[in-house]
Amino acid sequence: MINSYEYNKPLCSLHTMHFPVKADYYIQIKDKKELIEHLSEISEFEKIYYLGEGSNTIFLKDFSGLVVHLKTKGIQLISENKKEVKVEVEAGENWHDFVKTCIQNQWFGLENLTLIPGSVGAAPVQNIGAYGVEVKDFIELVQCIDINTGKLIELTNEECLFRYRNSIFKQQENKHLIITSVIFRLNKQFIPNLSYQELANFIQDDENITSITAELVSDCVRQLRQKKLPDPKVLGNSGSFFHNPILNQNDWQILKNRFKDIPSYKLEDYHYKVAAGWMIDQLGLKGFRVGDMGVHDWQALVLVNHGKGMPNELLKLIAIIKDAVCNQFNIALTVEPNLV
Ligand code: EPU
Repeated sequence: MINSYEYNKPLCSLHTMHFPVKADYYIQIKDKKELIEHLSEISEFEKIYYLGEGSNTIFLKDFSGLVVHLKTKGIQLISENKKEVKVEVEAGENWHDFVKTCIQNQWFGLENLTLIPGSVGAAPVQNIGAYGVEVKDFIELVQCIDINTGKLIELTNEECLFRYRNSIFKQQENKHLIITSVIFRLNKQFIPNLSYQELANFIQDDENITSITAELVSDCVRQLRQKKLPDPKVLGNSGSFFHNPILNQNDWQILKNRFKDIPSYKLEDYHYKVAAGWMIDQLGLKGFRVGDMGVHDWQALVLVNHGKGMPNELLKLIAIIKDAVCNQFNIALTVEPNLV
């Protein structure tokens, strides 16, 4: 075994829920070549977890295996035509820094995804989305290493089977695919996406706004997020904790008849996405706590660690919320971040 491994590595600062747990083994990987070189050694570990910035991973207990921390960097323009650019981005790049780079270079499309915590390599896994945009709409290819064979493979957008907060990378049988870089197709012309009502209203209500630029949209999204989403550096959290449930037309109609105000969004195939945060809020659970774990005061879909929160408190909190939502709305909420 080579000396770059660390033992009993504290994971507290490596995942944004900040539970004080450890990994038996830990290694940082700074470029793709290094990963390929280490692959046969890495695959000898029975349990391996590939970690980005830890904003969608919650370590509930000590990890009895190897954590591989992907910190590969690089943003490269690989081609362009009159309308579009193709940009290759290494998995370890910070998502928000990449969005800022895009805006600076006038590569448009990702403005609405400003300030989402996490790494570029994690973005396709759960098909990150916010304010009316999903990352899938700008992904051309995802490059991976198959850790079973050591082969580099490329998956097209279609092959990734992107759906709402989902892709093939979330499925257990594809855990041998490690994302190393993502190729984005971005626009040279800026066309604002104001399909999310809250964002459109925010811009419309500001009389000082005379023209809508990508910088402006990005800044408005930043303000909206900062108004209700806690900064994980200040208050431990993993973003939205539950998926917004997707219902068929019949189930949605039954729910809507009972709860006329429930916010919902019509999807393409006669399904409806309903706001889980609204349901939790309606139950009066904003600010509710189990020990040092709680429902955020401003956004009920976010669970936070007030400082000394422990995994058992989180599990109890999840159970209470799921039970309450099920009893009142007859809906089974599902947890969004990976619980490890
Ligand atoms: N709502 C409440 N009370 C709450 C929370 C929400 O009444 O405590 C209502 C809101 O007023 C709104 C509706 O529920 O009418 C939806 O709320 P919001 O716009 O805050 O969005 P969300 O559905 O709770 C989703 C994403 C967020 C993303 C926002 C904005 C998921 C699981 N979450 O949240 O993504 O930032 O939309 O686009 O889809 C994340 O995934 O980590 C994340 C933060």
